[in-house]
Amino acid sequence: MKSYFPFLSNYRKAIYLAPLLVIVDVICEIVQPELMSKIVDVGVKQKSLPYILHIGMIMLILSLIAIAANVGNVYFSSRTSVGFAAELRKGIFTKIQTFSFSNLDKFGSASLVTRLTNDVNILQDLVMMMLRLLIRAPLMLLFAVFFAIRINAGLAIIIAIAIPLLSLSIYFLLHRGLPYFEKMQAKLDIVTRVIQENLINVRVVKSFVRENYENKQFDLASGDLRAMAVKASGIVVLIMPVMQLVMNISIVAIIWFGGVEIISGHFQVGQLMSFITYITQILMSLMMLAMSIMTFSRAGASSKRILEVLNQQPDILDSDEAILKNRQPQKGKIEFRKVYFKYQEQSPEFVLKDISFTASPGETIAIIGSTGSSKSTLVQLIPRLYEVTGGQILIDGADIREYTLENLRNRVALVLQKNELFSGTIAQNLRWGNPQATQEQIMTAAKIAQAHEFIMSLPEKYESVLGQNGVNVSGGQKQRLCIARSLLKNPLILILDDSTSALDIQTEANVRAALKSNSNPPTMLIIAQRISSIRSADRILLLENGEINGIGTHEELIHGNKIYQEIYHSQQLV
Ligand SMILES: Nc1ncnc2c1ncn2[C@@H]1O[C@H](COP(=O)(O)OP(=O)(O)OP(=O)(O)O)[C@@H](O)[C@H]1O
Ligand SMILES: [Mg+2]
Repeated sequence: MKSYFPFLSNYRKAIYLAPLLVIVDVICEIVQPELMSKIVDVGVKQKSLPYILHIGMIMLILSLIAIAANVGNVYFSSRTSVGFAAELRKGIFTKIQTFSFSNLDKFGSASLVTRLTNDVNILQDLVMMMLRLLIRAPLMLLFAVFFAIRINAGLAIIIAIAIPLLSLSIYFLLHRGLPYFEKMQAKLDIVTRVIQENLINVRVVKSFVRENYENKQFDLASGDLRAMAVKASGIVVLIMPVMQLVMNISIVAIIWFGGVEIISGHFQVGQLMSFITYITQILMSLMMLAMSIMTFSRAGASSKRILEVLNQQPDILDSDEAILKNRQPQKGKIEFRKVYFKYQEQSPEFVLKDISFTASPGETIAIIGSTGSSKSTLVQLIPRLYEVTGGQILIDGADIREYTLENLRNRVALVLQKNELFSGTIAQNLRWGNPQATQEQIMTAAKIAQAHEFIMSLPEKYESVLGQNGVNVSGGQKQRLCIARSLLKNPLILILDDSTSALDIQTEANVRAALKSNSNPPTMLIIAQRISSIRSADRILLLENGEINGIGTHEELIHGNKIYQEIYHSQQLV
């Protein structure tokens, strides 16, 4: 509960006011039956119109106050719950932004989306319910019992029997139903995950003609959910008729015993009427309480999932010293010193083993190696997307952990192997790399990345909208836009992870030449599969099973490295 206080702090006033208004509402409502009985027992009996009008007027005013209080309560509760949800969502979102890649690996995007949407909505409903019902139900119950006893303590015995009877039945039903509700939540998660994964990968599904398979997966998940929902609601729907039964029996009993008392002159008709109203209110409040308990326990699972995200410690953070020194990379020299890495602490094998090499400022090092040889892993360690497990990476002689993440990542541009653009215009997407970039800088970057020409051929040029309802770019065009976006950061170190794989050999060569033509070229690490893409690099680093198998120029490797020779010859054939 305490973890949620910060998200409610802007709504303190509303949180006090809402229950206060509930109390006003309950008081106004609870005296109505009492006044009604006065009209019948005094006004009608004495045939006094002024008395009836007087009491009627009071009832009317109380009703108006109750309505106003209720409207006020709805206003404050909705404001609070909607505001709480917005702040909570923002909090989770901000937290996720601090996550390292390994934090993100742990949750998975589909699950994070469910937590941000569905789980937050459930907590929003809970806050609303707490502010509306949680005080109302017990208060109403207490007051109604009090007034009922005051009217006729003898008849109140019926209430003393009805309350435990209904409570026990509700307890019994909820006790059986709640586990189903919890399971239902878990099944709902699965359905959401299936939907999300399918929609995110809908193109893959289509290209593999796996629609039927996916439909089956969905049917399975959705069928499971339905079965559980039917079981859960099958039990909970019984609560209503049980309550009706208890209520009707109580009313019959009241009329029976009350009637006898009326005949003997100890009891009034109006009192009987209000007594019946009170017992209805009592049993209704019990129901509301039960429903609240149900909402509570259903929200428990959602809360747990949200707290998991909020309490997750980002595992890559700035050290105090780095913040204090505010050191900036200056030249772009990269040095790996006996670097070891594994993704999970518990995994027995290192993915990278004993990696040591140096790239001098302005040098281009190409990285080649079979798929799964840890090329991507190696370069992701440089901007600290993952933290090295052993050894050290230095930039300009200082351990990368001595820079703040911001200073480090501002100067290290990494074009990821699986890169994405955002919806928006091309210019907006490029400027994403550097919000201050001028139109001219944007065009220069696009020219180096060989993207300018195709952008200019679009009807709206740099203002063309990408994505939904906009233009779609080809794989190679997207790669070039991603390179341009990275160049706008004016990086000291530029890492391209298979980022020109979709370009034809000529365009790729043009990109490389343009990158090099810069008077002050960045240090570059270029991962590629084709020898043609890398033979002009200053040096080539050959990775094999996470280890450096050889490093040198194309000429050196072609003469001295067996694996490189094999790769070279296999590519000559095609
Ligand atoms: N996020 C991750 N969590 C756990 N293991 C991973 C993760 N990413 C990659 N691996 C594992 O690390 C190893 C190296 O993967 P990596 O992506 O670095 O290879 P790569 O050389 O870039 O391959 P490719 O040429 O196919 O891009 C693989 O065995 C892979 O299964
Ligand atoms: Mg890779």
